[in-house]
Amino acid sequence: MRRLAVLTSGGDAPGMNAAIRAVVRGGIAEGFEMFGVRNGYSGLMGDDLRPLGQRDVGGIIDRGGTLLGSSRCQAMHEASGQQAAIECLRKRAIDGLVVIGGNGSQAGALELSRRGYPVVGITSTIDNDLAGTDVSIGATTALEVAVEAIDRLRVTAASHRRAFLVEVMGRKCGYLALLAGIASGAEVTVIPEVPMGMEDIAQELLDAELRGKKHAIVVVAEGAFSDADGIAKWFGQHHDRLGFELRVSRLGHIQRGGSPCVFDRMIATQLGAAAVAEFARGRSGLLLGLRQGHPFASPLAIATEEKDLDLDLVALARAMSR
Ligand code: F6P
Repeated sequence: MRRLAVLTSGGDAPGMNAAIRAVVRGGIAEGFEMFGVRNGYSGLMGDDLRPLGQRDVGGIIDRGGTLLGSSRCQAMHEASGQQAAIECLRKRAIDGLVVIGGNGSQAGALELSRRGYPVVGITSTIDNDLAGTDVSIGATTALEVAVEAIDRLRVTAASHRRAFLVEVMGRKCGYLALLAGIASGAEVTVIPEVPMGMEDIAQELLDAELRGKKHAIVVVAEGAFSDADGIAKWFGQHHDRLGFELRVSRLGHIQRGGSPCVFDRMIATQLGAAAVAEFARGRSGLLLGLRQGHPFASPLAIATEEKDLDLDLVALARAMSR
């Protein structure tokens, strides 16, 4: 095996650039010729590749986003798209592909692997919803961004005796909301894994006021309610009886745009180097994640499994919100 390509796919995550850098520099150190694919699987199908040398990935370890660009590619869900991707790689005599991304991207990687093409995935998503890793690249930076924003919101909430409903990302997974809730000292945290109705949240706010709180923060995971605007509207209509005036803040993509924190730079570097080392050993069909602080390879099929959220943290969040 002589030539490897790398792509980033799905929602960008802080640390993707550090992972690209590690894959390229690690790959060259292992004796591979390295190529970068622009804009994820769409670029792969469009033959949008370029050689990458050590200098091409200089000065990016501190940058959010992805130097290569990313995309969500519908065609990768279809057999024809997967075949087209493999044909492009074979035409260029590229022997293996590194896929940096979340569960949709790794599901695509699994399909390529099932068709006999050598792929190694690297777990990277702010949602941290990928089985096969304790924590994925980008999730910790996204948390830092969310917690900093909530800290600021609490200051203004306290000045005005208000409650803030803060929506954080995470798709169907409550990881970001739960950890952001605990780390910011939220009064209420709502996640998809532990459903709560509007009245439950309202009761929590009333209780917080009775305990003497002068403000309240309700962290809501985007996947906890199908209609976030509906919650805001509901609270608007029940303003008078809640004890706090309510404001809504949706953090959205701000959580994806940060410069990666040290932890994300570190794990991206470790996982990137470990991914190319697998190819050097002649192994593929793997997903690289972190287990107890070390790179760990699982079969790519783990990407289709559901990741468990540590629900003990729900009790902790509640106990600390008193
Ligand atoms: O998967 C990462 C993520 O940021 C999710 O938290 C969010 O639901 C989704 O991507 C947003 O996707 P898009 O960037 O396509 O709007």
